Amino acid sequence: MHDVTALVDLAARMPKAELHLHLEGTLEPEMLLQLAERNGVAVRFSSAEELRHAYDFADLQSFLDIYYEGTSVLRTSDDFYTLTAAYLRRAAEDGIRHVEPFFDPQAHTQRGVGFEDVVDGIISALRESERDLGVSWRLIMCFLRDLPATDAIQTLGDALPYRDVITAVGLDSAELGNPPEKFDGVFDLARSEGFQTVSHAGEEGDAEHVRRTLDVLHVSRIDHGVSAMTDPELVARLVRDRVPLTVCPLSNVKLGGFASVRDHPLREMLDAGIVATVNSDDPAYFGGYLVDNYRAAIESLGLTREHLHTLARNSFEASFLPAGEIEARLAEVDAFFAQE
Ligand code: HPA
Ligand code: ZN
Repeated sequence: MHDVTALVDLAARMPKAELHLHLEGTLEPEMLLQLAERNGVAVRFSSAEELRHAYDFADLQSFLDIYYEGTSVLRTSDDFYTLTAAYLRRAAEDGIRHVEPFFDPQAHTQRGVGFEDVVDGIISALRESERDLGVSWRLIMCFLRDLPATDAIQTLGDALPYRDVITAVGLDSAELGNPPEKFDGVFDLARSEGFQTVSHAGEEGDAEHVRRTLDVLHVSRIDHGVSAMTDPELVARLVRDRVPLTVCPLSNVKLGGFASVRDHPLREMLDAGIVATVNSDDPAYFGGYLVDNYRAAIESLGLTREHLHTLARNSFEASFLPAGEIEARLAEVDAFFAQE
């Protein structure tokens, strides 16, 4: 069981969760063009090939510019349903049993789309796939960190009637110049309203950014967090406190964080004892869904069967499922590896 193909097959079949996935980042070029036509939205691209050709990013901001441009075709509740349902079908094909996707309501409400239309479309797809495909879920609402904190507070207010279906709040978009301190009040408020919290950090920002995100925002996991590896004291803290990092190898390479997956620290993170997980981030833009990310890491970093077992366990341990449910999922992972 040492060859790459067998390990990729194992990664595809093992029970696992995906915890770092932007629903708007699953908008494939074909769907983007279909929705543009259906909704009469003008886009500056005329073919899927042209769109894919434009997906060549120098850094996070150059990606975000195209990503927000893409979101402009999403207008109705049905659009959000269609987008989410397509991702969930793809996720089930990749052997994903539990998902905790992000959505960016401000990217839509800013354009006049109703908050309830966004959430209703997403939720109906999540409920349907739980029933039909057996994929359980928790939903995470992200605030755009390049917008003012007052906008985030208003968005938190929009989410209050949806507390039963939105489990956590997160923070995404441009990291540089938008430090965690900008959102300390919003996150305190969100926690007092019963939301769990996560935040992107250490994607373009340094290890200090990751540390301050833990200290100031008190999040229960960090999205990306790769820059933490430059700081041994922070690594020791992540290991000691079992703070999960939701790592996205193909994303980090596409946005210029590492020259190739061979240079990615995922394997060192696991070997250091960090609760790291593998995720796809924005698969329609970064050239791969979850198993593609596992494949890249297996091929380029030489991940072993033991690494895969740990990653599957970590993906459930780091989830927002209740403790008893996590125990059951871990037992399922262990049983899978015992009979393989
Ligand atoms: N990083 C930060 N913000 C984002 C991303 C990302 O990879 N994708 C969507 N919003
Ligand atoms: Zn992300």
